Amino acid sequence: MRVLSGIQPSGQLHLGNYFGSIKPNLDHVAKADQSFFFIADLHALTTVQDAVALKQAREDIILDYLACGFDPEKAIIFEQSQIPEHTELMWILSTVTPMGLLERAVSYKDKVQNGIPASAGLLIYPVLMAADILLYDATHVPVGKDQKQHVEMARDIAQKFNTIYKKDVLTIPEPVIREDVAVVPGTDGRKMSKSYGNTIPLFGDEKVIKKAVMGMVTDSKGPNDPKDPEKSTIFHINKLLLSDESAAKLAEEYKAGIAYGDAKKRLLEDLMTFLKPLHERRAKLTAKDAHKVLEAGKKRAESVARGTMAQVRVVVGLG
Ligand code: ADP
Ligand code: TRP
Repeated sequence: MRVLSGIQPSGQLHLGNYFGSIKPNLDHVAKADQSFFFIADLHALTTVQDAVALKQAREDIILDYLACGFDPEKAIIFEQSQIPEHTELMWILSTVTPMGLLERAVSYKDKVQNGIPASAGLLIYPVLMAADILLYDATHVPVGKDQKQHVEMARDIAQKFNTIYKKDVLTIPEPVIREDVAVVPGTDGRKMSKSYGNTIPLFGDEKVIKKAVMGMVTDSKGPNDPKDPEKSTIFHINKLLLSDESAAKLAEEYKAGIAYGDAKKRLLEDLMTFLKPLHERRAKLTAKDAHKVLEAGKKRAESVARGTMAQVRVVVGLG
């Protein structure tokens, strides 16, 4: 089993990213024989077109990932833009990718509808993603539901390539969809997302986190009114931080009428306890540590990527 996934450096990580993506990925790393995690900085260029912002986001995300517990000894961690084989394979794959496949991509249509300019890069985004996956012979690709179609497109593209060139050069990957992962609600009750401005940042300082928690939207039930924990965003987030037993106890307090102000204070307390070790690790990490990890990751990733590209070049007649 070879696991591979990527994350775009496109903003501050939040609790939704942690419980929806980072934590399940850490579990995959623990189970896999080999895993690759990369910063999809070339993909980020389709939406982040500000050099200072992109550079900062790239620096932050690697330190955030290490602080979350990604072990560079177990997982190969690298930056997409440092391995030119990604774009080289993308081009070759684009020549076997039917236009119809790209035009059916839901994510492309969504992005354009949401005001992102319809560049050629945005259209061939899934071809770059296919190259990311196929370069490393990944067998399992853990992604959120929104990325499932892209992994299916990578399968289609790999099959097309193998058929056209009559050789099983590319490994057909499987998407691993995290069905069991709950959508983390944001401070306004909608899905937590940076585009809604309703996030609780993972590495924000205590003041920022306190402001987000104390500002969470609630209904108008007063202190002592019984509250249904299942309907409370505060409870839903708090539950993620607790054992089943502690969550059941807290649910009883909601039914007994805990005041929302106290429920928020409880959430803040549990959140800061949960985040403390992450924040402590993050504070100790330096740009030098990130550089070391990325350099080592690049070397390991590069040798695999070069091996696949050498085979692909031969098969298409460019060897
Ligand atoms: P955002 O919605 O803030 O832009 P991204 O789309 O960059 O977040 O998400 C990165 C990863 O985090 C994806 O795998 C996505 O499924 C996961 N994720 C984002 N928000 C949530 C959430 N509220 N609940 C669960 N998972 C989430
Ligand atoms: N497009 C993915 C996202 O936005 C990130 C990504 C790029 C990726 N290449 C990948 C994920 C390859 C898995 C495999 O979340």
